[in-house]
Amino acid sequence: MNKIKVYSPSTVANLSCGFDVLGLCLNTPYDEIEVIKNPDRKITLDILESQYDNIPKNVDENTGGVPAKLILNDLGLDFGFDIKIKKGIPLCGGLGSSAATSVGVVFAINQILDQQLTRKEMLQYAIEGEKVSVSTPHADNVAPCLFGGLTLIRNTKSLDVVNIPISEFSIVLIHPHIKINTEDARKMLPEKINLNSAIEQWGNLGALVFGFSSDNHQLIKRSMNDIIIEPLRSSLIPGFDTIKDNALKLGALGCGISGSGPTIFALCDSSEIASHIGSTSKDHYKSLGLDCDIFISEVNHKGPVVV
Ligand code: HSE
Repeated sequence: MNKIKVYSPSTVANLSCGFDVLGLCLNTPYDEIEVIKNPDRKITLDILESQYDNIPKNVDENTGGVPAKLILNDLGLDFGFDIKIKKGIPLCGGLGSSAATSVGVVFAINQILDQQLTRKEMLQYAIEGEKVSVSTPHADNVAPCLFGGLTLIRNTKSLDVVNIPISEFSIVLIHPHIKINTEDARKMLPEKINLNSAIEQWGNLGALVFGFSSDNHQLIKRSMNDIIIEPLRSSLIPGFDTIKDNALKLGALGCGISGSGPTIFALCDSSEIASHIGSTSKDHYKSLGLDCDIFISEVNHKGPVVV
């Protein structure tokens, strides 16, 4: 194979109480990534025009360029890759945009290499790409993006990733047009947390994971609560409290900040509820004088898709 095009998906990291350990893969929005083998032992990068094309064009500064170069050198390949990226995922939006670029490139290259890399190796390369945009490694975007579905990062250092069973849900994403840099949103968090808060948070996380595994919607609803990170970061997102209260009143099972924000996600058990939350949230942002995009997605159980 000399050429391949893939759709690389967005992800919702944390899912409220699972800071840095839980992530969910979505069908939409996604990036389009094309990789073509070249005879020059070089990586070239072409960022195609889109609403979100303002990303580094230099290979060494791009989350897809860096892992491509590492793979080329580590495997001593006698050919290179021309990479074309069309971004469909908002930048600095909390939807795993940098991870999608990184994973999409690694996944596409591995298809060209007839699957030489293992799942874990792909994940390692994808994380190297992510490090270009955030210095503290976290795998709760790259892992769900690569493996699909709901993933739990049991250990980030050893990249022990567990796929948690999940059924069908509708997820509405409310993306106000402001940008939050993940690095900054991490710096605002405390280094230490109170033991009682930790107990409540890990009680919720354990129950949430069991709720998904057993498809118990009432348990998911009770446990999708973040008492540590959300109270701090939500101050960066205009209208957060109103959007969340409204989403829960309209029937969402849970609602919170997607990754480091500003996107707000609401998990719903029907697409009607998701659409209703989307339209009322858009109206609310309009009343605040802020534009926003609404995306409604199902769970993506597969990760990147070959087009
Ligand atoms: N878990 C990370 C954070 C995800 O919340 O900082 C960033 O996309």
